[in-house]
Amino acid sequence: MPRCRNTGIQVTNARISPFAVPLGGTPTLDRHSLTMQITILAAGQGKRMNSRLPKVLQPIAGRAMLDHVLTASRTLGPQALCVVYGHGGEQVRAALDAPDIVWAEQAQQLGTGHAVQQAMPRLSDEGAVLVLYGDVPLIRAQTLHDLVAAAGNSRVALLTVNLANPKGYGRIVRDANARIVSIVEEKDASTEIRAIREVNTGILCAPAALLRGWLGRLENNNAQGEFYLTDVIAMAVADGIEVVGQQPLHEWEVLGVNNKAQLAELERIHQRNQADALLEAGVTLLDPARIDIRGELVCGRDVEIDVGCVFEGRVELGDGVKIGAHCVLKNVKIGADTRVAPFCHFDDAEIGVAGVLGPYARLRPGTLLAEDVHIGNFVEVKNSQIAAHSKANHLAYVGDATVGSRVNIGAGAITCNYDGANKHRTVIEDDVFIGSDTQLVAPVRVGKGATLGAGTTLTQDAPADSLTISRARQISLSGWSRPVKQKKT
Ligand code: UD1
Ligand code: MG
Repeated sequence: MPRCRNTGIQVTNARISPFAVPLGGTPTLDRHSLTMQITILAAGQGKRMNSRLPKVLQPIAGRAMLDHVLTASRTLGPQALCVVYGHGGEQVRAALDAPDIVWAEQAQQLGTGHAVQQAMPRLSDEGAVLVLYGDVPLIRAQTLHDLVAAAGNSRVALLTVNLANPKGYGRIVRDANARIVSIVEEKDASTEIRAIREVNTGILCAPAALLRGWLGRLENNNAQGEFYLTDVIAMAVADGIEVVGQQPLHEWEVLGVNNKAQLAELERIHQRNQADALLEAGVTLLDPARIDIRGELVCGRDVEIDVGCVFEGRVELGDGVKIGAHCVLKNVKIGADTRVAPFCHFDDAEIGVAGVLGPYARLRPGTLLAEDVHIGNFVEVKNSQIAAHSKANHLAYVGDATVGSRVNIGAGAITCNYDGANKHRTVIEDDVFIGSDTQLVAPVRVGKGATLGAGTTLTQDAPADSLTISRARQISLSGWSRPVKQKKT
């Protein structure tokens, strides 16, 4: 069993998928024994972000923080998923709306208890309600699963953590028998209570019907004039309801984000977790601190990734693939044993086995490379298919082209695919040799086995097995002399 150290990725047979079930067990609840509803508080403005983007839409690994929380939530199979929104609500809804989400507006932010009150009309009295936060993005599904199990149908389960520096947090107050009796917010706390290092993460799970009752009795006569969700703990204790404390495996699971510095910190933690999962799966990372996966990276065996690479969307690397330093790969599939040299940029491309690419190669959408294709430095390929064993090693543009097998495209060759209004295709058949500095003015076809002489501007089809050349015939003038500079008078 792999260690529980991740933020929503899966490693099975060297596969890593951020959309799949997390490590450390299968966090799927038994839906028949526990009815469970989730509410995610996401109304905070996040002033300290200094951004037009609402706080919960700020990204971790390219996905909104709230989206991470939704993903963890969905693995629990809740009966209802209610997001409490406020600031930038339209933007949040537009970004993340889905059929399984019900939205509840909290127009004025009157406290965490008030926020949950807004969700209650959308939730039933059956089973439990799990309260999560849109700005606590790295919470693991397994931790939530354990919390929900601890609550069952009749208890309150509270996620707490012991901090070296508990400043700013609500403190967990326990009695002589170590039973939780209340939560006291820092601003309302005495010196003795402030000395307590066990703090409230904010995440809790409570029986829905009881929670509804307690929320209805909340008052805001406290230091902040807010309706505190935390006050339901003392109410539960007064009603004789057991409150159990649970701790997450990792402190980073419960870290919240209020500013860009904290966002950057969680980004690195999340990336490190993903890197660790790759290492565990047998991928070689030259430096696990210098990789960014913003999507799904699926690796075969003996894959090697050098420093500074960014993977976006879905990227699949076959067995033995080597990626050089500082490559950016988005929605790319690479066949086994292909080597990619540093500084390549691939977007929406499929590359066959045993390819040799880069450095400085650019593959744009619609690129399909077969086996053993070589694409070298400063070569751009777009919407083109290149068949096996063909090469374009230096300074070329291959756009809207169909290229056969064993074709050699010389340095500086260009498919002139665009006439200023429309795009046209170039067809290059098998075994063609394209000389350097040629322009193929599309639509145009080069027949099998043809050779284009260097410098040719091809405006008509080139016949098979012939040399086609359009440059002016070379002449040499003997006895010619250079102009001589005239003396100024
Ligand atoms: C809250 C807890 C505190 C805990 C801390 C953990 C209360 C009263 N206190 O304090 O015990 O240690 O979280 O970080 O619950 N929110 C809304 N609507 C509101 C108020 C808050 O949606 O009206 C959301 C915020 O966007 C945020 C979360 O709830 O995501 C927590 O709010 P925040 O003001 O940060 O709570 P704290 O005062 O830090
Ligand atoms: Mg507050």
